[in-house]
Amino acid sequence: MIRFSVLGFKGGVGKSTISLLLAKKLAETYRVTLVDRDNTNTIGRLYGLNNGLINALSEGKEDNFLTRDGNLQVVSMVRFFPRRIPSPEELAPIYRDILKDSDVLITDNPPNLDELCEIEYKAYRLATGEAHCNSIFVTTPGVALRLTLKHMNEVPGLLREWVPDTRYFRLTALVINMVKGEVEDVPVERKVVIPFHREMFYSGLQVDSYLPGIENLVELTKNTIQLELVNEEERTQLSRKA
Ligand SMILES: Nc1ncnc2c1ncn2[C@@H]1O[C@H](COP(=O)(O)OP(=O)(O)OP(=O)(O)O)[C@@H](O)[C@H]1O
Ligand SMILES: [Mg+2]
Repeated sequence: MIRFSVLGFKGGVGKSTISLLLAKKLAETYRVTLVDRDNTNTIGRLYGLNNGLINALSEGKEDNFLTRDGNLQVVSMVRFFPRRIPSPEELAPIYRDILKDSDVLITDNPPNLDELCEIEYKAYRLATGEAHCNSIFVTTPGVALRLTLKHMNEVPGLLREWVPDTRYFRLTALVINMVKGEVEDVPVERKVVIPFHREMFYSGLQVDSYLPGIENLVELTKNTIQLELVNEEERTQLSRKA
């Protein structure tokens, strides 16, 4: 399974929007799980999920944190403040069960990588036997973009503190969202520019929303998946030979 983390250091820049639109597009080809890791439960709410997996574990209730829409599985990780935070070991068996039939995992994260992000990442490691990160940073232009460029290099170190045997950290894309006019030139190769879309801004994120420019991100993500599938095949062959 290949894992993508949608990250950003500022609120309201479009992380959840990008996560959902990307997940839906990839689900046309792959079996995708989209994990809403944000306390605001933006995506979970769109799918009528009124519970979080962490809340369900903490309160012993098993219902309404997961739904399926064709090849897309949507999981709400947390809703408001759970009474108790489970350990990664506690989360891992149920997470393994949720992820077992997926090719691709996309996590939508809050602006600050908090304790729940750490627990999710550790549980992922326990559930799947390995950990890696294909990152998609989302920002708006201007100050937010400069903040992102300044801090994005700190994320790999943090992930390795959480899971020391993290296999790799790669940048899949830097998404500059809500661009009006020209965007400043930044020294990043995998850059995707998404224009400000008036209709989306006024109607808010819906399950059937569309954002012009998302195709470029889908393309970069699919390339990453193809590369990882080849690498996975090579690793399997090597371990068979050993
Ligand atoms: N390219 C765009 N043009 C116009 N509006 C957009 C665009 N992308 C996202 N939006 C709108 O911006 C708002 C914030 O988006 P979203 O909730 O995805 O941000 P977020 O980064 O996930 O926020 P949070 O930090 O609260 O989780 C939403 O109303 C969404 O519809
Ligand atoms: Mg969000």
